[in-house]
Amino acid sequence: MVCVDADPEKIQALQRGEMPFFEPHLADVVQDARRNLHFTTQYSEAIPQAHVIFIAVGTPPGANGNPDLRFLEAAARSIGENLGAHFTVIVNKSTVPIGSGVWVDSLLREAFERKGKKDGGSFAVASNPEFLREGSALHDSLYPDRVVIGAADTATAEVLYTLYRPILEQSFIAPTYLPRPEGVQAAPLISTDLASAELIKYAANAFLALKISYINEIGQLAEKVGADIAQVAKGIGLDARIGSRFLQAGVGWGGSCFGKDTAALVATAGEYGLDMPIVKAAREVNQRQRERVLNKLLAELQTLKGRTIGLLGLAFKPNTDDLRDAPAVEVAKRLLERGARVRAHDPVAMERFRKENPDSEVHCCRSAEEIAVGADALVLLTEWPQYQDLNWEKLARSMRSAILLDARNLLDRARLTRAGFRYAALSQRTGQAVAAV
Ligand code: UGA
Repeated sequence: MVCVDADPEKIQALQRGEMPFFEPHLADVVQDARRNLHFTTQYSEAIPQAHVIFIAVGTPPGANGNPDLRFLEAAARSIGENLGAHFTVIVNKSTVPIGSGVWVDSLLREAFERKGKKDGGSFAVASNPEFLREGSALHDSLYPDRVVIGAADTATAEVLYTLYRPILEQSFIAPTYLPRPEGVQAAPLISTDLASAELIKYAANAFLALKISYINEIGQLAEKVGADIAQVAKGIGLDARIGSRFLQAGVGWGGSCFGKDTAALVATAGEYGLDMPIVKAAREVNQRQRERVLNKLLAELQTLKGRTIGLLGLAFKPNTDDLRDAPAVEVAKRLLERGARVRAHDPVAMERFRKENPDSEVHCCRSAEEIAVGADALVLLTEWPQYQDLNWEKLARSMRSAILLDARNLLDRARLTRAGFRYAALSQRTGQAVAAV
């Protein structure tokens, strides 16, 4: 397998065995496959012999909610120029707007023909959306809930089906560091047309995003009526029609996907004269959660000017150093704008934070203990498991005022109160099951 990237630094790092970002077990997988992996910046080294080509370039947020497709366009053109004479399947793995399959096909054809290669070669574009989550990317890739293949004809779909067979049938030997979970059997295959595969990706991400926003909206009401949002989530999630996952209330979603993909869905619908009020509302509620962090702190501290606030967590979720659209990064920025002093700690994302925000006034500290000394409040913004077992008594004693805002509903209110904290959350969470039947 040959991996191409336009960034020579990234390729050189990969050639040295260094991973470009933090993702559990990525280094293990690359190490296991090193004999079959070649990294290069040259399309000519990768494309002519390939039978299947995955385009996995970034599609960052662009103007008007539409993703920026520059990298996709450049990749499609370079692939087209270098395609060999045999039948090749080009797979859109990047999250691309609906209709991109047809567009990529036209770019490939144009580039291919410009090189005078009209005769002999044949190729087809397929869509194979990705459903992995950062932080558990390898697990999700090996043990997917389903595989979706979008193609215009059976021959193209067959190529991908053959490639995915070991995963679909779960016939591969599981790596020791990622054992096959109990009960995991063959993964279902959805074989469909291009547009349906593309829409499945957006519809799935938007649904997950609105599920989170829904529980956060209910969380606000729970706070008013004195209900425990964790119990409410459990109580509704056990209904198999609803399902218990993605009902964790808190500061809401961030990351590179939900914000971008919900914006793109609204933008695409707009191009067809359609409104998407449900998706729009999910976005609004998510934004509101971030504001609520500021409002809660203000309610506790009366003013933010001159206060020292310690942030526990910077990454948009645990097990990653990804800071794209991370709630913590936005909260830090807003606190600074309001005149607060901000300290932060994250087990893996601080180096990236400093690199991406060289002028930021956020003071990164080596430990949770360090951010607590003399602070007016702590805010937990990423639910890293190690934050569950901090020496809370020591932290509370070292603070100017021992206030903790648990923006992820991770901690035990009673435990924190015993340690001397004034505990606040974004929604009520008593942690008490009144009667267990
Ligand atoms: C998401 C989807 O879950 C993947 O299926 C999809 O492949 C991916 O986007 C993508 O399009 O590439 P990801 O953004 O990596 O994955 O992470 P998630 O686990 O979905 O979390 C997203 C955000 O939602 C995080 O900020 C997380 O803290 C938040 N979240 C998640 C909640 O606030 N509550 C929950 O119950 C679950």
